[in-house]
Amino acid sequence: MSTLGEISANRRAVIAAVPAAVALPCFLAGCASEAPKSAPVEGSSTATGGHQIDATEVPVGSAVIVAGAKPVAVAQPTAGQFVAFSATCTHRGTTVAAQPGSTTLVCPSHGSQFSAATGQVLKGPATAPLASVPVTDANGVLTLG
Ligand code: FES
Repeated sequence: MSTLGEISANRRAVIAAVPAAVALPCFLAGCASEAPKSAPVEGSSTATGGHQIDATEVPVGSAVIVAGAKPVAVAQPTAGQFVAFSATCTHRGTTVAAQPGSTTLVCPSHGSQFSAATGQVLKGPATAPLASVPVTDANGVLTLG
């Protein structure tokens, strides 16, 4: 059985490659970044393939992206209320980015914006909301999916 620390160490190499993979299409398209983006957080996988992260990694009024085969956006819109959505943009499938201190998610490809509190589109070209992901809080450990 693996510990959270062992799983996190294995994921570091994957997570380190994510920012370059997300930034490259935007760089090639010549688009500019309007706001700093927060780096994806490290999580661990459950036996059923879900993600687990420490609730302290999601400050009140913000969202984080949990990297993985199916990245998830997790937000805490109000104290103690955690919500999660697929982090895959509904326009053309790019992973959206979290903004520090905000619950707005921004797609780096074409600029769509989503509410991490509701999953709803705030700005197009995307027209469909992000898919909801179940999240449970057990003693400060969030299980996603
Ligand atoms: S892929 Fe996200 S806005 Fe186009």
